[in-house]
Amino acid sequence: MNTTGNPAVGDSGRSGPRLEAALGDITAEPVDAIVNAANSSLLGGGGVDGAIHRAAGPELLEHCRTLGGCDTGDAKITPGFRLEARWVIHTVGPVWHGGTRGEADLLASCYRSSLARADEVGASSVAFPAISTGVYGYPAGPAAAIAVRTVRSTPTKVRLVRFMCFNTEALDAYQALLDSQSP
Ligand code: APR
Repeated sequence: MNTTGNPAVGDSGRSGPRLEAALGDITAEPVDAIVNAANSSLLGGGGVDGAIHRAAGPELLEHCRTLGGCDTGDAKITPGFRLEARWVIHTVGPVWHGGTRGEADLLASCYRSSLARADEVGASSVAFPAISTGVYGYPAGPAAAIAVRTVRSTPTKVRLVRFMCFNTEALDAYQALLDSQSP
């Protein structure tokens, strides 16, 4: 279960972090770190970026102003301020242009970079939104496949990764992938 009371779907019996998928608002998740689908300015926006800044309070934006932005595919970590989570890992996903401009590699890099930031601070539980699948237009199914495949194949000390879905399309995509247990 998680804070939304929805049963989390997971895969177990594998080395590396336990992977789960759940429906709900990532800002309420009681994990060590939540991942923000930010833009390269790191100065806030709509979607999950807006929700995280609203929940974290103005100190988050003040802190982000000191970071000098973030490249697509990279990630930077900040305190969570008023959030349940101790940290926010801000990553910048690729804008979907049809798949011909290296979008898949950049999206995979977001998940790898975010896990690296989590490891640097010793975060053992991390919640990810479906990066790039909103404003940035990445198709939900392929994005979920990249997320699961990348997290499964990235060495990390993180013990729990929860994919927080904001709609049932994303949740169905993640659940099918986690149920498949395929590497
Ligand atoms: N909790 C969990 N997931 C959420 C939440 C929330 N509170 N709000 C939105 N989402 C989901 C969306 O439904 C989508 O599946 O997060 C996913 C990512 O969508 P966006 O937030 O639009 O992020 P992205 O597609 O990566 O676009 C990033 O949008 O908000 C701006 O500043 C941001 O410019 C950046 C761009």
